[in-house]
Amino acid sequence: MDLTAESHSIPLSDGHSIPLMGLGTYGDPRTTLKGTTYESVKLAIETGYRHFDGALVYFNEHEVGQAIRDKIADGTVKREDIFYCGKLWNTFHSPDLVRPALEKTLKALQLEYVDLYIVEMPTAFKPGDTFYPKDENGEWIYCKTDLCATWEVECHPYFTQPKLLEYCQQHDIIIVGYSPLGTCRDASWVNLKCPPLLEDELLASIAKKYNKNTAQVALRFNVQRGVVVIPKSFNPARIKENFQIFNLSLSDAEMKAIEGLNKNIRFVELLMWSDHPEYPFHDDY
Ligand code: A2P
Repeated sequence: MDLTAESHSIPLSDGHSIPLMGLGTYGDPRTTLKGTTYESVKLAIETGYRHFDGALVYFNEHEVGQAIRDKIADGTVKREDIFYCGKLWNTFHSPDLVRPALEKTLKALQLEYVDLYIVEMPTAFKPGDTFYPKDENGEWIYCKTDLCATWEVECHPYFTQPKLLEYCQQHDIIIVGYSPLGTCRDASWVNLKCPPLLEDELLASIAKKYNKNTAQVALRFNVQRGVVVIPKSFNPARIKENFQIFNLSLSDAEMKAIEGLNKNIRFVELLMWSDHPEYPFHDDY
């Protein structure tokens, strides 16, 4: 497959297509300055990104939408050039709440449609507008729902998901790999037993050979095997450098060597919800 900065979408079985490279837009709402998401998404569109991964629970969807709309208004892109993925949060799992939740997203974005809407996590919480409900003892308030849905998949050189990838390829399913750089390493929800992906020696040596950095090699690895990546960055230099992966091609031996890094360890463990009946990470898939 010939991937370029201008053309790096792959077909979906419903006739639509999805850009292999997307910008993740989750930043901790308590520490991310107002306007950062807006500026980042605008810069990303100027850089060539066409895929944005957002959610109502990130509390910045309005900034993502504003940036997309402004870049449409100034003629840089058309709505149909953009692929936006929104997410149903845990408090809106009951069927009657799905549509209103999607409508909240559309209202925040001020767009007429999203290109993909997924279940953020299979772990339902007590319905309502308190996104992280806890009882008077500080315990999470869960909720039982009849879940028949799917969710995103962490995927990077330390968690290459060979079984899942093979299954999806056999069934024409595209994987979107979140945290393709190994997360922001926030100790409150990330498994820090695993060493930082971006300090990996093999990735560093391959990066050196091509005059790239480890992040670019990690991203290219997934994109080259058909896995969509959505690295978040609100840093202008990193937004640009993460996109510079289309003038890099890894050899078969390098792809195999990177696959060999797999440690089968998740960074995003979310252990605080591990007692939820629908906690998704007890099983292999
Ligand atoms: P920053 O926004 O400061 O660039 P996620 O797992 O949600 O995709 O987050 C990726 C994390 O990696 C973010 O904390 C982001 O922070 C950081 N990051 C993004 N691109 C790079 C890069 N090229 N090199 C190092 N860190 C990066």
